[in-house]
Amino acid sequence: MRLLITGGAGFIGSNFVRHILTEYPAYHVLNLDKLTYAGNLENLAGLENHARHEFIHGDICDPALVERTLSRGVDAIVHFAAESHVDRSILDPTAFVTANVAGTLNLLDGSRKHRVGRFVQISTDEVYGSLGPSGAFTETTPLQPNSPYAASKAGADLLVRSFFHTHGTPALVTRCSNNYGPYQFPEKLIPLLVCNAMTGMSVPIYGDGLYVRDWIHVRDHCGAVDRVLQHGRPGEVYNVGARQEMPNIEIARRILRAFELPDSKMQYVKDRPGHDRRYAIDPSKIERELGWQPKVSFDEGLSETIDWYRSNTAWVEHVRSGAYLTYYDRMYSQRQQTLSEL
Ligand code: NAD
Ligand code: TYD
Repeated sequence: MRLLITGGAGFIGSNFVRHILTEYPAYHVLNLDKLTYAGNLENLAGLENHARHEFIHGDICDPALVERTLSRGVDAIVHFAAESHVDRSILDPTAFVTANVAGTLNLLDGSRKHRVGRFVQISTDEVYGSLGPSGAFTETTPLQPNSPYAASKAGADLLVRSFFHTHGTPALVTRCSNNYGPYQFPEKLIPLLVCNAMTGMSVPIYGDGLYVRDWIHVRDHCGAVDRVLQHGRPGEVYNVGARQEMPNIEIARRILRAFELPDSKMQYVKDRPGHDRRYAIDPSKIERELGWQPKVSFDEGLSETIDWYRSNTAWVEHVRSGAYLTYYDRMYSQRQQTLSEL
């Protein structure tokens, strides 16, 4: 099995690459990533010389590169690559439409031409918009994206749907809730708060802090994507979540407590424009149809994640200083030089 994983140097993609290499000794992974600010090859440390992992530095929007990659023979694509941060999408929506919509279309075109056996689109619960105090998103909830990020992901989902209906592309979509865990870039809530608390800094809380997100450990998300890749029905959408809703200030409290810092370290800052009040996922379909269940409780997952950031100080320091951006040159150019000398 040759698997093309896009965005495999990002947070969830790198966790998924490790998951696949561990779980499937016969799988070969082609990992295509542009290495934007969010792509970090230190997330893949230790895999540089792995016999079944090949890193390809490039853009999913580049038709020639996608053509070259798929010509080598690819059985399935798991598509994580995206611009992923809501706040950045408010400042620069064009980058989101380019990567998330045009990039997905380019992969779908290539997938169709090369008759790739499966295409798993990694989407998000944010395409459904915002909820009131009760209820949860199901796969039939109307798409009402509120941020440019969510709108670009919804656009990609609809292209995937159209390729299934028009061309019979064997495509599936997963829509997952907020992830947390190792290797998450500290611009998202949990790693940002942990990294700030580690140095005794205050933690920024948008608005009143009563916004609710539904949290899932990245390991559980990877297990769900694996299940959809292996057993999902083409043309279907699968919601993924762990029924672990929590307001932001409660998360902040727990993180501050872990570092023995007082609640007064919460600094209420200007709210995000158009901020969605509440997300909650109903994962009944994937549980019922594919037998998937999350395994990590929030208490256990959060404390494990805090420990990970505490013990990976070099990773945190390289992100803070920007040194992670030169990892490619240091590790890969050196290796290429060695190969060309042979
Ligand atoms: P991330 O920002 O950590 O990683 C994204 C990766 O994609 C980076 O390595 C980046 O270099 C790469 N990339 C961006 N544009 C590219 C391009 N044009 N060509 C090739 N590579 C490119 O994101 P993440 O949190 O790991 O999210 C991965 C996927 O999961 C995204 O599609 C996101 O929408 C979805 N998702 C994320 C969450 C979450 O909570 N983080 C929840 C649900 C769904
Ligand atoms: P984020 O991690 O950006 O994920 P998303 O917006 O995709 O759900 O934010 C999670 C929640 O935390 C969201 O309600 C915004 C809030 N938030 C803060 O209060 N402070 C912060 O510094 C950040 C980054 C987010």
